[in-house]
Parts: sequence; C-alpha cells; structure tokens
Amino acid sequence: MTLDRRDLDGRTRDDLLRAGLEADGVHLVRYADRWPLPGTRAERRAVRGVVTWLGLAALFGIGFFVVYLAWPYRYPADGYELYTPLLGITGGGCVLLLAVAVIRYSQRFLPEEVAVQERHDDPSGEFDRTTTSALVTDTVRRAGLPRRRLVIGMAGGVVAIPVLGTLLAAVGGLIRDPWRQPPADTVWHSGWYTTGERVFLRRDVGDPHKVELVRPADLDAGAIETVYPFRESDRGDPEKLAAVFDRGDTPAILIRLRPGQKVDAKPGQDHDNVGEYYAFSKLCTHLGCPVSMFEQQTDRLVCPCHQSQFDVLQSCTPIFGPAARPLPQLPIAVDETTGSFYATGDFRQPVGPEFWELGWQ
Ligand code: FES
Repeated sequence: MTLDRRDLDGRTRDDLLRAGLEADGVHLVRYADRWPLPGTRAERRAVRGVVTWLGLAALFGIGFFVVYLAWPYRYPADGYELYTPLLGITGGGCVLLLAVAVIRYSQRFLPEEVAVQERHDDPSGEFDRTTTSALVTDTVRRAGLPRRRLVIGMAGGVVAIPVLGTLLAAVGGLIRDPWRQPPADTVWHSGWYTTGERVFLRRDVGDPHKVELVRPADLDAGAIETVYPFRESDRGDPEKLAAVFDRGDTPAILIRLRPGQKVDAKPGQDHDNVGEYYAFSKLCTHLGCPVSMFEQQTDRLVCPCHQSQFDVLQSCTPIFGPAARPLPQLPIAVDETTGSFYATGDFRQPVGPEFWELGWQ
C-alpha cells in the first residue's frame, strides 16, 4: 500500500501508528497502557521505585567524583591502595544502577505490546518514516514521560555524571595543583642525589623497613651486591624507606675485585672507588634491564635481556651486545664513624637507556 502526504494529514496518532504497522507487515496482537488511570497509588509507587534507582546511581556518581578528586592515589609503603578499586566500584556502580533504572522504567511504564512482524529488505519511504515517528511519539506519550519531570530531570543528571567524569578524567591530568611545592627530588638526578646529608649504601633484606648498611667486610673478593640509597633522616619514615626500592634509577652494583685488579678509571673518576670496591648503575644502558650477572673469570657484567656485556676493568664499557654506553659509575667512600659505604655524589652519567632523561644536566 502506498500513501502520500495528503493521505496522512488529519489522521490521529493512533491511526498512523496502526496503519504504519499494518503496512509494514506488523500485526499488533496486544497494545495497552500500563497505567490507564493516571495518578493512582500503584503508579506513584512505581515512579518512586525508579527514582530510588536513579538516586542510588547519582550517589555512586558523586562518590566517583569524590574519590577521583580527593582520595590519595599514590601507593603507600605498605597496605593496599584502594584508589583504583574505589574508582571502579563507584563509576561502574553508577552506570549499572542507571541501567537498572532504565530497565525498571521500561518494564513499569512502556505500553504492553505483543506484535508479530515480517522482515523486508528495502529502505524505508516517507510513509514508513512518518508512521514510525508516530509510533515513537506515541510511546513517549503513553509512557508518561512529559508528565514525569522528576524522573526525566534525575535521569538527565545521572547520565551527565559519567559524561562529565569522562571529560574530567581526560583533562584532570592537565590541571596543576596551585599549592603544590616543587619536589626536592627531580628527574634530573637519580635516587643517590645528595643535599649535604650522607647517602649510605643499604642492601635489600626483604623487609623495606629494616635497614642494613653495607661494609667492606661484607663482600668476598670477586663478589657483587645490589645496593640502594639510605639517608639517616629517612629512618623513621616507612614510606621513604620503601620508596628507594620502587624507584627505577636507584639500584647499583657494588663490586669487590680480586686482589691486584684495578679499574682503568675514566678521566676525573680516579677517586670514585674504595680500594678494590667499585659501584656502577645496575640498569642496562640498552633497554634498562637489571644487569645482574657477574662473570668472575672475565670480570664482565652481563645483562640477561639481550646479552650485553660490560667490562668492569674498563669502567664497565660495553664490549658485546646492543648496549652502546658504559654503565655509569657511582662514586663511593667509607664513613669513618660507622665503617659503612656511602656515595660521595650521584652517578657520573645518566642511568638507564639512552632515551631516558635525555635532557640530563
Ligand atoms: S636491556 Fe640489556 S642488553 Fe638489552
């Protein structure tokens, strides 16, 4: 059946809806309002149910904002970091509860409809578009949306929350905290930087809060040990004591050469060692893997990732593999009082791969 614009004008919405369905091969078996009498107690109860779900969604949405803006996001020295789980619970809960509210609204207010439709392939014409529009408009009217401003308002507000949250997440990292003080510790130096206080060499004993300093007698000839920085001022601070193990640029290898061996020091680094004890960065200058194997017979440090080898007696110059730069040396001395090693300064060169800290000063 083909109808033009004149045939459509003057028809009621209900006529258009049914005519459109019939023309499209849809047989409407049942089509009834859920609430034929508006304003009944049962209808108001149904509205309150939907509003409750929307209210819960709004609470979770607000919780998402509060967590995003106010919850501490840095990992603590110990304990469990709740920032990410809380973001997931509040953000996901908001979307889930909003979906529940939409489903409940559909169940309670959209017309009860049973229809059987045949499928066809051609694109929709003017008639189909007009009648479909009538169907949608009719559904909205029968669902009572124009009368339920509270539900529409709350739904709009709750939908806006995840949209705003997404925008906030996108630009939040670009907003500067105006009260933040510049950190004393910056990317321009490693964790061994000194500000006048001695930075001792400590070993990792498995408990970040237990401090064990390294002394010359701790290493046999030909032995190596991984060491991390320690400042006396950090002793009572669990976060700082643990942070040195998380920081990527701090690990260094303390090496005790065999008697009679000596490193061919680079210019200006003749006094960076204590006798046969030398310290170098543990980060491979190729891609930053930990250089963790020492070949005692050849005095080479070997990186397990791509087999770069560094000749310790040549100030850890690479002699095999893809690494192109020597491991930076850490200048060390022995504290007269405690007998422990300390660093007399930061690494002489930037640590890690070439692309790290390119602007090293
Ligand atoms: S990271 Fe060490 S050789 Fe590639």
